Amino acid sequence: MYLHGTSKINPKGHLEIGGCDTVELKETYGTPLYIMDEALIRQRCREYMEAFRASGLQFQVAYASKAFCVMAMCRLAEEEGLSLDVVSEGELFTALEAGFPAHRIHFHGNNKTPEELEMAIQANIGCFVVDNFVEMHMLQALAAEKGLKVNILLRVTPGVEAHTHEYISTGQTDSKFGFDIGNGSAFDAVELASRSQNLRLLGLHSHIGSQIFEVEGFQLAVERVAQFALHVKDKLNVIFKVINLGGGFGIRYTAEDTPLKVSDYVKAITDAVKSSFAGAYPQLPEIWVEPGRSIVGDAGTTLYTVGTSKDIPGVRKYVSVDGGMTDNPRPALYESKYEAMLANRGRDTAEETVSIAGKCCESGDMLIWDLELPQVKSGDLLAVACTGAYNYAMASNYNRIRRPAVVFVQNGQSDLVVKRESLQDITACDVIPERIAKQPSFK
Ligand code: LLP
Repeated sequence: MYLHGTSKINPKGHLEIGGCDTVELKETYGTPLYIMDEALIRQRCREYMEAFRASGLQFQVAYASKAFCVMAMCRLAEEEGLSLDVVSEGELFTALEAGFPAHRIHFHGNNKTPEELEMAIQANIGCFVVDNFVEMHMLQALAAEKGLKVNILLRVTPGVEAHTHEYISTGQTDSKFGFDIGNGSAFDAVELASRSQNLRLLGLHSHIGSQIFEVEGFQLAVERVAQFALHVKDKLNVIFKVINLGGGFGIRYTAEDTPLKVSDYVKAITDAVKSSFAGAYPQLPEIWVEPGRSIVGDAGTTLYTVGTSKDIPGVRKYVSVDGGMTDNPRPALYESKYEAMLANRGRDTAEETVSIAGKCCESGDMLIWDLELPQVKSGDLLAVACTGAYNYAMASNYNRIRRPAVVFVQNGQSDLVVKRESLQDITACDVIPERIAKQPSFK
């Protein structure tokens, strides 16, 4: 396993993260356990902030909280000077409960409910990223009712789609999100929004994908958005103050992944903005981005206890851990690859190839195929790296498995930021109707 951030093997041969011995973390908190390297999260936040400062442009870096949305993380993002992107009442509530300043919250989503819009208006959030005409009318009506003028960006689809090493430039984008530039709906949306008494149109938003390793897709998106912005300036005399380029900056899960440095992504974007808007705009727009994965992804490690194994001679050896697709659905959903090691035997050399299975009642519940490990024993600790983004966030109670605890570790100190669910939590929302309870029991 690639050791990064504050991860190292300590003199006892144990994996240590943030100065905390993972074997001791298991004793204190149990497993499965999500361990977040706080110093690495802060470092990533600072890399973004510094790269943008160096660009000389006005900017906001909004942490895309969907990647890992818990109150402690909202606080940490706030302390580092980031803004916050939320996509549901739940994420908004988490941020507000954590005391995140509402004016630095941006609200996304292709189907915000009237209740969600109302809640966000009440909270006086910084900006709505309006996705479609239905939402625009709803927001307009709600704001008018209250005599308010709310800030909006319009989400546009620039016809660029990027995934990892490929980006596809499509004319008409087949996407559930946003106003299409190519078919004129983005233009109509700008026209409508700019005439509204209750919507303050700050600018445009574009997000082209996730886990992207190259800058070309972002550069092309900037060019397309800029072209559209200049067209709008000519035709409608509307000038955008803000251009939001979304998230999607890739990270290293395994040796196959070759992300760029944060500063390289930021420089490519800000240079593209400078060259696309220079001369055409009275002043360069403010640039917002929304990194999620690249803030928290590689700071996370999941610690499991090894339980049973099944050796099928000549075929494969399955080694099962005490978690699985419930705490990390990404391998099942996206065939995502991870690196792992035995956290209690960090110096032992690899001797066998095993496949790591979860404990769910489903063959698809596999975490890692063909992993080289020392001879694995029941009771060993398996650490899976880079599980900070979209793991806790997408965890489920399938098979009524309890969701794990999350700890932040730094300078030899560990702090619980999410408690492990209890068995009581598992049935907390269950209700047995009187009618059923009254039935005589089966004899
Ligand atoms: N902004 C918008 C509008 C987004 O839709 C997303 C991610 C982000 C920002 C943050 O993207 P990031 O920097 O994290 O790549 N569950 C999937 C990832 C889904 C991403 C959805 N949108 C996974 O586990 O890979």
